[in-house]
Amino acid sequence: MKASYRSICFINATAFSLTIAAAAIVAQPAMAKQKKNPIIGNILRGKQIYVANGCANCHTINGQGGSGGPDLSTVAARQGHNYTWFKKVISSPALIKQGSVMPAYNTLTDRDMRDLISYLSSLKKIGLN
Ligand code: HEC
Repeated sequence: MKASYRSICFINATAFSLTIAAAAIVAQPAMAKQKKNPIIGNILRGKQIYVANGCANCHTINGQGGSGGPDLSTVAARQGHNYTWFKKVISSPALIKQGSVMPAYNTLTDRDMRDLISYLSSLKKIGLN
């Protein structure tokens, strides 16, 4: 009786340490990612900037918007589509595609640009297509 109680305690303690170790391993990459990408803007404000600048006239997000430009629902999930890429496309689309019909949004403030990109980046987690 005493021996089996002891072994249960041992198993519990082992399981507990394994859980802690696993949690540490899982938490590590998330923390590293946050350090690598420190640009965290206001996503809701970014959505307002998206609407106010008429982006939806040409772009669709999760089934809503126009069709003159590519669907942006999951654009942030693609390789290399980081803050620098977004800023370049939005402020000077001609640098990405010559003769682009997209207007150059080069008068947005740094804060507006950061919030707008934060909004577009947030979509990759909820994009439906
Ligand atoms: C008049 C239509 C139009 C408007 C308005 C417009 N875009 Fe675009 N956008 C395009 C087109 C068309 C492309 C595809 C590249 C090209 O042909 O220039 C594009 C490309 C993009 C891309 C790259 C997509 C990809 O898959 O490579 C992003 C990001 C983007 N636009 C964001 C925006 C944002 C943010 C706004 C608002 C601030 C906006 N666009 C306003 C037409 C538009």
